[in-house]
Amino acid sequence: MNDKSPRIKGNTSKSAAPATDKSWQARIGSARDQMAENFVESLSFDHRLASYDVHGSLVHARMLAKVGLLTPTELRQIERGLKEILADIHAGTFTWDISQEDIHMAVEAALVKRIGDPGRKLHTGRSRNDQVALDFRLWCLDACDMLEAAVHHLQDSLLILAQSTATVAAPSYTHLQRAQPIVFAHEVLAFIEMLDRDKARLLDSRHRMDWSPLGSGAIAGSTLPIDRSYCAAELGFNGVTRNSLDSVSDRDFAIELVFAMSMIAMHLSRLAEQWIIYSSTEFQFIRLANQHTTGSSMMPQKRNPDMLELIRGKAGGVYGQLVALLTMFKGLPLAYNRDMQEDKRLVFAAYDAVLPCIEMAAAMAEHVTVNASAMGGSIDEGFPDATVLAEYLVKKGIAFRTAHQIVGRLVARCENLGLTTLSKLPLNEMQRECPVIDREVYQSLGSLNVLRAYQSDGSGGIESVKKQIAWWRKTLKKKKARQTAPRI
Ligand code: ARG
Repeated sequence: MNDKSPRIKGNTSKSAAPATDKSWQARIGSARDQMAENFVESLSFDHRLASYDVHGSLVHARMLAKVGLLTPTELRQIERGLKEILADIHAGTFTWDISQEDIHMAVEAALVKRIGDPGRKLHTGRSRNDQVALDFRLWCLDACDMLEAAVHHLQDSLLILAQSTATVAAPSYTHLQRAQPIVFAHEVLAFIEMLDRDKARLLDSRHRMDWSPLGSGAIAGSTLPIDRSYCAAELGFNGVTRNSLDSVSDRDFAIELVFAMSMIAMHLSRLAEQWIIYSSTEFQFIRLANQHTTGSSMMPQKRNPDMLELIRGKAGGVYGQLVALLTMFKGLPLAYNRDMQEDKRLVFAAYDAVLPCIEMAAAMAEHVTVNASAMGGSIDEGFPDATVLAEYLVKKGIAFRTAHQIVGRLVARCENLGLTTLSKLPLNEMQRECPVIDREVYQSLGSLNVLRAYQSDGSGGIESVKKQIAWWRKTLKKKKARQTAPRI
């Protein structure tokens, strides 16, 4: 998955003749245009598929030998050549030549150069159209796994934060106005929930991705006795795709992946925004670790949340890549069209943006400090216990709508008297609005009482959050992500 950009050796001069022969030269002739070659190439970005391409070719060659289309000696030569090529690519000593257009042609041309004629048999029964579909699926499968592992790690980090804030009283907000008291962990757990659906989306799209298109050829398959199922099994796929035409046209697996990444980016941008607000001087609910802030070149006092702002900002680019992909494929005639080459650029860019955002968010969650006194200090101001007072009246037999009106008047009364919390309102003032209120009411008021009183499943109180944390501890341990390193 790592993108170590190779130095691409291409012709930059407009007039010089490109270095290498093309595989289709017999049909088109040797006319060359450097500008056109530079324009059409994808090697500068699809070199990222190199390991997948070589791996696919190795399996394809073994299949050709198995069905008698390669001799054992030819297979051995091809295997040796491909392995050497991959080793050179990894060592950074492979010479890339953009006149070869893309990773598939670059590897094949290098093979022929190294081992001669047997290399010319490698492309038997396949086309670059199914080859690119294969390589890209393999890359996307690994991307799914890497993202899932990163999201899982972020959930682990957030769970630790939730555990340490399980009794920290905090206001919750709707419309960014104080709503009801919660423990801070409840908000942290909300993000763990979102991230879990993100993981499920990755897993779900992974199931549809996990079918091998290899052997679909250019569009309609092959008359040669190739064994697609053998290749699929060797490459670790669930099985083979059913329709060759669909197999070389389809990129929904990649678009779905970018959609899943867009959702992750969206969730992370909300977390980032939340924490940007909380780290402001106005709130001071959290303090970001020094290493997760930046200073100002002019204002010496600043501790800017740039990492969070970038997490928030990068979501825009990822949505752009999703929309670009959807637009690119809209109305595209079946089957393969060169437009499709651009998809990899967009998917790689989305992945390169989202994975570091997940990792950065995890590091920030691990080092953030929660300021419990700032969160809880003035928590009852803004009357977040008003709903509980209405529910207290409901328990006394008053209809909720009526209770809502009574409490509304009591809040207004507090304001008229210059009182900032409901618990400061004297009993006689309350009874003037509603005679059934008794002295016990004060045991319902105030955030700490509220946090102990929540009863409904999934609520933001102490008991519910304790249960949520226990559930996530068990669940995250059980659902350890599939893998943390690419399979190829
Ligand atoms: N570089 C091409 C891509 O990424 C590979 C497939 C080219 N196929 C073709 N028929 N021109 O889409």
